[in-house]
Amino acid sequence: MANRLPIDDSMAPDGACEWRRSPGGLVSALHPLLRHTPATWVGWAGGTGPAPRLPDIDGVRMHSVSLTAEDLRDHYEGFANGTLWPLYHDAVEQPVYHRRWWEAYQRVNQRFAEAAAAVAEPGGLVWVQDYHLQLVPGLLRALRPDLRIGFFLHVPFPPPELFMQLPRRAELLRGMLGADLIGFQRAQAAHNFAQLVVKVLDLPATDRRIGVDDRVVRVGAYPVSIDTAEMAALAGRPDVTARARRLRHDLGDPQQVILSVDRMDYTKGIEQRLKAYSELLASGDVKVRDTVLVQVAVPSRERVGQYQILRDRVEREVGRINGEFGRVGEPAIHYLNQPFDRAELAALYRVADVMAVTPLRDGMNLVAKEYVAARVDDTGALLLSEFAGAAAELEQAYLVNPHDLEGLKQSLLTALRAGPEDVGDRMRAMRAHLHRHDIRAWARSYLSALDQAGSLVTRLGSTG
Ligand code: ADP
Ligand code: F6P
Repeated sequence: MANRLPIDDSMAPDGACEWRRSPGGLVSALHPLLRHTPATWVGWAGGTGPAPRLPDIDGVRMHSVSLTAEDLRDHYEGFANGTLWPLYHDAVEQPVYHRRWWEAYQRVNQRFAEAAAAVAEPGGLVWVQDYHLQLVPGLLRALRPDLRIGFFLHVPFPPPELFMQLPRRAELLRGMLGADLIGFQRAQAAHNFAQLVVKVLDLPATDRRIGVDDRVVRVGAYPVSIDTAEMAALAGRPDVTARARRLRHDLGDPQQVILSVDRMDYTKGIEQRLKAYSELLASGDVKVRDTVLVQVAVPSRERVGQYQILRDRVEREVGRINGEFGRVGEPAIHYLNQPFDRAELAALYRVADVMAVTPLRDGMNLVAKEYVAARVDDTGALLLSEFAGAAAELEQAYLVNPHDLEGLKQSLLTALRAGPEDVGDRMRAMRAHLHRHDIRAWARSYLSALDQAGSLVTRLGSTG
């Protein structure tokens, strides 16, 4: 179960409602995994009002949970994306605390727990995803003690000095501890969690095991991944290859294409990247005729104030840069604020000589992994932020600190000027890693650990 179902309702040109896959890392990871697996996905279908009855999608049963307009405002936009999201991303924007938001978070988590309790088979397994639903493991265990419950956090888990700001920190930790296994992207996050459990709840904890009542809760790092083979197959398709060629032509057949693909989110470092690019244009290190930047920024959380401000600022800056450095028919930046289907994204990845993925903080960043998987001819330079979870795995990327403007400019130039041999060696190594560590490997390692955790009847005292 996840806050969001893997579908977005959108209006077809004839006014009919049509469904398409929703953008975002969680859906990209889990949708290929569950497809054709006998499973039910419990989540929100977007929008407000009664939960729609949905058809199975790719063999997965969809069980929708309703949100009222108030829930949407106070749970999703409020506590989840106004409080937890910024707090968990190094507070790069100021987290906001409202008691009303917390009440909505509890209420919606209760509704999700009841929905899962109603559909899960006796002795079944429920895998709860992400920060919107941190109370669900505890609530669900109270309703259905027969279930095996997993929890996985897709976003970073912050260090104690940040988490301690949360007015309802103890309840959130206790909610997560309802799970048999709590998975994080990075070992550092598991360590932060264990430290907090000791400090706030005074429970016996290591980075791997926590004693709660008469149970042992397992904790671990399981870096999420993508369906590598699927992306590679898509990128290698003749129509996608032809589309990539066409895109390059439409971009004016430049010597080099730089691509960024993000949700329009302040954690993604879009403004810092634009500033670096603009300074490189101003200094003449990058020339519009030779190089283009394609910035895809898909709309996200559009009713949240911080996101509206970000979009305005990004669009103003793109306009300024194009006004200052572009030429007729040759903009410096091609800016696309739209969702694309998978084939179009794959074509964009194929066309990019340099992929700039420079978030200020990111749990994983699957765009970076998708780019690597799509480079079927082992070309292409990945410029990757040290603050993305993916940097721990894609060590051969050109790593960069996006807070350091000069460093960002230099690294972008290094990636643009790198020789084919260096680029090829790095890309080959990263692709080999992703073929071994794909989404199925992630699910296998998490689920086998959950299996062991659930069968543990031992208590912390006897397991050490
Ligand atoms: P996050 O989880 O913060 O959204 P990720 O990089 O992990 O960030 O995942 C983003 C996912 O959304 C990727 O799978 C990417 O392909 C998808 N995505 C990004 N931009 C678009 C877009 N314009 N249209 C459709 N999907 C997109
Ligand atoms: O990966 C973090 C995340 O919040 C996921 O939960 C979600 O898939 C993605 O970002 C998109 O966010 P939203 O569901 O708010 O559109």
